Amino acid sequence: MPAERIDGVAIAAKVRARVAAEAATLGALGVQPGLTVVLVGDDPASAFYVGAKEKACREAGMRGETIRLPAATPEAELLAVIDRLNADPAVHGILVQMPVPKHMDPQKVIRRIDPTKDVDGFHPVNAGKVLIGDADGFAPCTPAGVQVLLAESGVETAGKEAVILGRSTIVGKPMAALLMQAGRGADCTVTVCHSRTKDLAAHTRRADILIAAIGRPEMVTADMVKPGAVVIDVGINRVDDPATKKGYRIVGDVRFDEVAAVASRITPVPGGVGPMTIAMLLANTVRAARLRHEGAART
Ligand code: GUN
Repeated sequence: MPAERIDGVAIAAKVRARVAAEAATLGALGVQPGLTVVLVGDDPASAFYVGAKEKACREAGMRGETIRLPAATPEAELLAVIDRLNADPAVHGILVQMPVPKHMDPQKVIRRIDPTKDVDGFHPVNAGKVLIGDADGFAPCTPAGVQVLLAESGVETAGKEAVILGRSTIVGKPMAALLMQAGRGADCTVTVCHSRTKDLAAHTRRADILIAAIGRPEMVTADMVKPGAVVIDVGINRVDDPATKKGYRIVGDVRFDEVAAVASRITPVPGGVGPMTIAMLLANTVRAARLRHEGAART
């Protein structure tokens, strides 16, 4: 039997509805959760993502604004903008869209953001909190979204072998931290594979839950997947396709059709993990607003 699709669009809509309800509750207390996105430069893909984040905030009854700075902005000027946002009580979440121009140090930029407003979960304080299982921390939106996808679609994770392909700071490493914690959507035995892993397929074939986040189009094939496994595809890759109007199509890290014939559940690309990322950004922002309102935001 082919795998059941995990519908990221539907689960993201549920998360967004919960966020909207929470935003309304906070609104009744005189607090409108607010996210400020800073976009430096005019990269069209970044501009598209930033526009989607702002729109999603507004749809959830939150304040969403974008500060657009020219590509040539000196780093010190960006840091001064972050300082101002850190001090602004109407701003609960700050996100500097990556990548920043080459003359800027992204780590310096990330570290300047108040960790209690770092709704991207990129600040080392939040990375540390996620690792130690401190519930106050903000987890990066993509791995947090994967965990919600698993929990909301009723995947039993406790005691399961989870294999993660990719060790990036924003997906692979925090994904491992989240899945190894105690609790809902977690309690897994985790393996992280990367470019130096020997006999990759020997690891992936052990996985009850396989999470592909390597950024290599359709690299995961059916022979790498244990029958009945749950397969989560984080990849978003553009591949040339002259047969399409745009000349390209978007594929994941998993060869969908053949893996769907082996797995028990699978996320499609698009429509799987992707929609969860913005939903989790909203969820982090509304939580940042609540923590601040309750005086519980701490680093
Ligand atoms: N660029 C692409 N994705 C992201 C993201 O999730 N956060 C930030 N800050 N920049 C990005």
